[in-house]
Amino acid sequence: MATRIFADKNMKIGGISPELYGSFLEHLGRAVYEGVYEPGHPTADKDGFRGDVLALVRELGVPLVRYPGGNFVSGYDWKDGIGKKSERKVRPDLAWASVEPNEFGIDEFMKWCKKAEIQPMLAFNMGTGTPKDALELFEYCNYPSGTYYSDLRRKNGAGSPYGIKYWCIGNEMDGEWQICNLTADDYGKKAGQTMRMIRKADAKGAGEEGAVKLVVCGSSSVEIPTYPEWDRVVLEHTYEDADFISMHRYYEYMPSGKNPLEDFLGSADDMAEFIETIRATIRYVRAKKRSRHNVFISFDEWNVWSQHAKRTAPNWVKAPHLIEDNYTVRDLLVFAGMLNTLLNHADVVKVACLAQLVNVIAPILTEKGGAAIRQTIFYPFSYASAHGRGEAIRTISSSGKFDSRYGSARLINEAVTHDAAKREVCVFLVNYGQSAEETELELRSFGELSCREFVCIENNDLDLRNTFSAPDAVKPEHREPVSVKDGCRACVRVSPMSWNFLRFTY
Ligand code: AHR
Repeated sequence: MATRIFADKNMKIGGISPELYGSFLEHLGRAVYEGVYEPGHPTADKDGFRGDVLALVRELGVPLVRYPGGNFVSGYDWKDGIGKKSERKVRPDLAWASVEPNEFGIDEFMKWCKKAEIQPMLAFNMGTGTPKDALELFEYCNYPSGTYYSDLRRKNGAGSPYGIKYWCIGNEMDGEWQICNLTADDYGKKAGQTMRMIRKADAKGAGEEGAVKLVVCGSSSVEIPTYPEWDRVVLEHTYEDADFISMHRYYEYMPSGKNPLEDFLGSADDMAEFIETIRATIRYVRAKKRSRHNVFISFDEWNVWSQHAKRTAPNWVKAPHLIEDNYTVRDLLVFAGMLNTLLNHADVVKVACLAQLVNVIAPILTEKGGAAIRQTIFYPFSYASAHGRGEAIRTISSSGKFDSRYGSARLINEAVTHDAAKREVCVFLVNYGQSAEETELELRSFGELSCREFVCIENNDLDLRNTFSAPDAVKPEHREPVSVKDGCRACVRVSPMSWNFLRFTY
């Protein structure tokens, strides 16, 4: 029997924030060095920024990038990364057992963001860092002039303040792997104190027009024993000053498991349950505090990551080849489902960062001195970012189910978006089934729809990946657009284990 998916223009989930398509750049492996920054590369500009990477970042469609970590930030002194390059200190990076040359710091990042037309999201060090360090970084970035750190920024070449809007109050402070990790209570207090200082320095309250946006650390994963109690405690300490609570989640294909494929393919629906738990926790604290303030979710690390893959890079070198996952078709399918989950929670997830951007668990891979290529996961992201705009629309689906380690999951995983300005309705579909599925779309109330584009990625070889010798082994294929009956009904044959994108206009 066919799968029926029904959507009506009036059944809105919520507005899709452009920042849902953010990404993440950490001082980790070759993300910065040999990733975005490689002086001497044939495409590098006078600042050492790789032109080929910049072009791919633009094509990917990333409006916001979180920086500089990640685990790295919890041992990072931002002052090491400013001033004359020849005088910058080379430091050990304990988070990734690497050497940090500090050739690239906040001023280089801001220059790169300007070139890439990207909004920065900066993280404070809440590990070895103090609230005072955070305040000084804020002063360096956002004060116009006339104070020690703002004048230092000017001396370092940036006359105008950076006006950074998004600030993360640390990173994964619940994790025992985090440098100077804290209990929920201790982190909640430290974060709260830092946030109150930042609010004073910004001279605006949470939610006020033009105020900075603060993100407190939520649980770094559902697998951590303190989840979800951590989130409640942290929110109770910080609720009125927080705009967002962060969520992080990586999924992994574990071939040695009992039902490895089903378990992996169930990830997107499990991610939805995680979001619903954090939504409920936010609501609980809001009620407990008798607050009228709204806190949203910043899902600022998400991706597929083979964490059990062996580490082969040497320790204590600059820019080692670290966690450079080479994504498969199978990874792409899970990734696309996760993206659908974010869209289907667009009312509460207002920021999301694909972790990460270049080389390290990233959609873009580079060779030192050589090429830059698109990984399989590049495509669902670039299509969603280009077309998944406007509003997310609720769907009702008759999809069959399968069992995974997370419980039951949908065989056909979908998201529907409506961009009224472009008069465009888009459907993102993943078939997790082993057979082709006739899928009937009923897209009501939008107007007389015509299908303009039908794009698909499918391949029987789920292990297929893009490599430097075969960079286009996996790429989208254009299909004949489907016909639409009565202006709203379309039938799509969705190939087994495939990602599909359909664009309709009216
Ligand atoms: O993205 C890689 C790492 O994953 C980040 O540094 C950390 O925040 C998370 O555990």
